[in-house]
Amino acid sequence: MERKILRGRLLSFLRRPESHDDTESFRYLADGGLQIEGGVIRRIDQFDALDARGAEVIDHRPHLIMPGFIDTHLHFPQTQVIASWAAELLDWLNDYTFPEETRYADPALAATMAEAFLDRLVAHGTTSAVAYGSVHAASVDALFSAAQAREMRLIAGKVMMDRNAPAALCDTAQSSHDATAALIARWHGTDRLGYAITPRFAITSSPAQLEAAGALAAAHPTCHIQTHLSENHAEIALACKLYPDARDYTDIYARAGLLGPKTLLGHAIHLSGRETRALAEAQAIPVFCPTSNLFLGSGLFDDARLRGAGLRPAIATDIGGGTSYSMLQTLAEGYKVLQLQGQRMHPYQAFDWITRANAAALGLADRIGTLEAGSEADLVVLDARATPAMAQRMARAESLAEELFVLQVMGDDRAVRQTYIAGRLAWSAP
Ligand code: GUN
Ligand code: ZN
Repeated sequence: MERKILRGRLLSFLRRPESHDDTESFRYLADGGLQIEGGVIRRIDQFDALDARGAEVIDHRPHLIMPGFIDTHLHFPQTQVIASWAAELLDWLNDYTFPEETRYADPALAATMAEAFLDRLVAHGTTSAVAYGSVHAASVDALFSAAQAREMRLIAGKVMMDRNAPAALCDTAQSSHDATAALIARWHGTDRLGYAITPRFAITSSPAQLEAAGALAAAHPTCHIQTHLSENHAEIALACKLYPDARDYTDIYARAGLLGPKTLLGHAIHLSGRETRALAEAQAIPVFCPTSNLFLGSGLFDDARLRGAGLRPAIATDIGGGTSYSMLQTLAEGYKVLQLQGQRMHPYQAFDWITRANAAALGLADRIGTLEAGSEADLVVLDARATPAMAQRMARAESLAEELFVLQVMGDDRAVRQTYIAGRLAWSAP
């Protein structure tokens, strides 16, 4: 079997850092080696401790090698919606997003865009993602096929939506159930692919459709579930009006059997105490989407409150409400959202979040998100001196934490030198 050793400065988190001086929470090797065989990390150690005989040695010094970034919420058919001018979420959906998603009925377009979408991800250092397709099953087939060819670990699902959208984007409770079941049979657990049952949100699903989604979740307990929750006030009001029997927005999903530890809830911004407790009891995963929340003016994600209630949020780009594919830019904007609420995001916590913690949120921390032996070799090579401004700042940086904070605040795809997927080079900066 081909044996590869990557040499560089290795950084991998073991648990969530509690504070800025929690240096026990990660492993950092200033001259480390990652031994990779069959797409899997077999050993992590000081470079000198590894037996390099017969191995291909790739020297990435002086750059940092980290686990590839994990984006836990984004929309594959929205790559050409980014930067669309709208007052708020519901206008943005109706005026730009829904019309754009109708184009994904065309399998040829979906196939072309799937390649472009995955190209963007790897160029930004993102090696795994949880993606929404369009309502068309063929869009999800296209995305899974493209990810499979690249050996990417990808979770995705066909959006279920049967009302409050253009007719061309509406399925029915029954057809969405059957199409989802067929996609699960075709893709879930195949190679590195997983399925997420995807009712878009309460506004675009009838009660019958949410029930169908709940039935799918019960029948396929290893699948994820993804939807949107409490993104902005107009959305919450409309959702509650459409479901007058529900106690609140969260209860709409709870009643349909859609809340559990594999449920990813995009945004989760304006939650009552009752809703927060219900989410914590279900161990559902709120997903913080800072660039999207700022762009659409949706609100400020209250990370401290949710963590205080026992929740473990994930973090994501939410392309195309989000404005950047970069998980580094996502951290930069997330940092500012928390600052506005008197909360802090230390760079150790930030880099843990987009790697190990996002993997843990998906129940995949034994597969991705760290550099520990046995992990799949999805990696990003980062250069904190990538731009003249970063290099100038870095000339005065004296610690790993400072370097990480420069990457977190000033970094984007220009800081990504290489991306590896399953041990193979998937992207190299020109
Ligand atoms: N709520 C329902 N659909 C969407 C979407 O596509 N993007 C965002 N940001 N929120 C949504
Ligand atoms: Zn979204």
